Formats: sequence, C-alpha cells, structure tokens
Amino acid sequence: MAEIKIRNTGERITGEQNVRSFLDTQEVLYEHWDASKLPTELQNKFVLSDEEKQQVLATFDSDIRDLAARRGYQTWDIITLSDETPNLDELLKKFENVHTHTEDEVRAITAGKGIFIIKGTKDVGYFDVELEAGDVISVPEHKPHFFTLMDNRQIVAVRLFIETEGWIAHPFADPQFESKN
Ligand SMILES: [Fe+2]
Repeated sequence: MAEIKIRNTGERITGEQNVRSFLDTQEVLYEHWDASKLPTELQNKFVLSDEEKQQVLATFDSDIRDLAARRGYQTWDIITLSDETPNLDELLKKFENVHTHTEDEVRAITAGKGIFIIKGTKDVGYFDVELEAGDVISVPEHKPHFFTLMDNRQIVAVRLFIETEGWIAHPFADPQFESKN
C-alpha cells in the first residue's frame, strides 16, 4: 500500500484510508489493483520479454480497461526499470527534475517500487508518494512532479495515455524544491 512523506515536516501518512484522503486533498488519484493476480514468476521479474509484457497486460486487462473507460485513456504499455536497464543512472538523473505535462501521468505498479515526488498545496509543499505493487496513481496535468526509483531500483509499471504526445515533460524550475530531503 502506498505511503506518503511530507518533505517539509518529515510527517508520514500510512494506511489506505489516510493515504487516500490525503491524496484526495491534493487531487491525486489513487487506486489499488490486486497485484497477486500476476503469475508468481513475474512478481519478481524486472527484465521482461515482449511476451511477458503482454502477459502482464493480459493479467490486468479488466483493471486497465475499467480505468481507461472511466478516465479516457486510449493506449497503454509496460515500462520496466532495473539495474539491467542500460544507462539506468543517467536515466534517473534525467527523471529527477521537477516537470509538468499537459496530460495526467498514470502509473499502475505491477512489480517493484517507485516514488512520485509531487508539489502539493501551499500548506503541504512537496510530498513523496512511495508506491508498491498494486498501487495506481495519476498525477494531474500541470502539477509539478517527478518520478524516481526506491533503493531496490526495480519496477514494472503500466502507463496509460490519452495521447502519448500529451506526456512530454516540460521542465518546472522551482526554487522551493530542495532535492536533498
Ligand atoms: Fe512526469
């Protein structure tokens, strides 16, 4: 289940209901899928063949289609990241910059972990959403954020798009953001 860390105060928010209510106040969609549906051999696998990616998509097909129907997503795919990913460090460096999109950024984690760092309302400031398998998040359009991996540096996630072009990152220079938290 996702957990929140407020960067300014170090406060942590845990428990599905608390996390959900907090993310509601920040207009961040949070849902949960049953990650145990995934065949056991894929629950801990972070380098996937095309066939295995299709297997992940097929496993969550009804969840994906339900979310897509409610929110207008037209296409979806699978992203995998791990130490096996060529140039992972460079890639993460690129990721770890606050930016916005004209479309919301949806990720459904099917294996591993990841963090979205999001600029919240004025009273909250930046907060981390730590995600694990089964967690589904949508960062609204125009909301400054970035994504990175957690210490295990492994993730498989489904990405859903209205139009893939809407997901181009626009850098958001923010003097209020301190990456050292
Ligand atoms: Fe993004």
